[in-house]
Amino acid sequence: MTMDRLRAREFPWTLRPDVTFLNHASTGPLPQRSLDALAEWAVLRAEPWRIALDRQFGLLARGRELCGRLIGADAAEIAMMVNTSYGINFAALSLPLLPGDVVVGSDREFPANVYPWMGLEKKRGVHYRMVPCRDRLADEDAIIAALDLPRVRALAVSWVSFETGKRLDLARLGKACRERGIYFVVDGIQGVGATPIDVRACHVDILACGAQKWLLSPWGTGFLYVRRELVTQLEPADIGWMSGPASADFSRFLDYDLTFHDDARRFEVITLPFQDFAGMGASLDVFLEVGLQRVYDLVRERADQIVAWAMRNRGVRLLTPADAHQRAGIVAVVPSDPLSASARLDAAGVAHSLREGAIRLSPHFYTSAVEIDRALQLMAS
Ligand SMILES: Cc1ncc(COP(=O)(O)O)c(C=O)c1O
Repeated sequence: MTMDRLRAREFPWTLRPDVTFLNHASTGPLPQRSLDALAEWAVLRAEPWRIALDRQFGLLARGRELCGRLIGADAAEIAMMVNTSYGINFAALSLPLLPGDVVVGSDREFPANVYPWMGLEKKRGVHYRMVPCRDRLADEDAIIAALDLPRVRALAVSWVSFETGKRLDLARLGKACRERGIYFVVDGIQGVGATPIDVRACHVDILACGAQKWLLSPWGTGFLYVRRELVTQLEPADIGWMSGPASADFSRFLDYDLTFHDDARRFEVITLPFQDFAGMGASLDVFLEVGLQRVYDLVRERADQIVAWAMRNRGVRLLTPADAHQRAGIVAVVPSDPLSASARLDAAGVAHSLREGAIRLSPHFYTSAVEIDRALQLMAS
């Protein structure tokens, strides 16, 4: 299918001249087929006797499969979650961290990947050390140097910065962690769906990802990856009634047996928002239909377009690294007067974000070059 047809079918508002959406780093729009799936499940939900259990739980099984494919993991390493924060809290509370141990992060992180670690200080006496950024960008050399401080047991970083769009070299950081026996925890929400990742090659131990942004999925959907070898070593921080096989037979709930699944289902806390996972499955189908590599190539082309413009314009400061390997779909720029540029974008219906004094544009694969041009002209005028 051509991109024009896909835009018209899945994102019909792209045909409207008064809307330009460059804000996937905030909330991604739902494709039409996701809306259809939500509507179908809302109707079913009104008549629950029509919902077969295997169809209902099949939504989660399919979610694990699809999310695994997105990041190079097996379905057995994926637990469906309702956002990023639960996954990061899982990491903070389930890793075997002792009083006096140290968790390293970068400063200027989104709070979802800060507060759970700060909270450990109070709860368990685990210290959280933030490594200063350089020019607002996470400094990989300084982060690796910090791993050699005494008692560092975990590194927790965002793959892609919500503020600058800088994409960290996960392979390098993961290797450094593995060599030192340090757990590597990644907040993937600003990268997964925009640019490729292979969690195994990058030695990621735990990756948390909400699906509401770049995966164009309903609020309340997301997933957690836990490296296969760790799955059985970690006890769930929160224990659900389906965390183990004992509840598989719904006619014998009272045969209590707190044995956990030997895959990542042990970390799921049922009951989950099944209807939203139906929407997520439909959204991810769009990615597969377009082809993941094509999705990533298109996101990169659109980001390149903004970067090239910023580099041509003297009055514009590019916060995002110019090197395409160090960014994904977010490009942050500071025009001479960011507030009025943002107001002009707003007035023309160009959805964007103003973050820490910069204009953050975040196009996706279906964004057209013409839409980007429109935004750039408005910022320049
Ligand atoms: C880096 C990062 N992590 C996490 C989140 C959101 O976390 P959650 O999915 O728990 O709402 C955001 C949202 O802006 C983000 O930019």
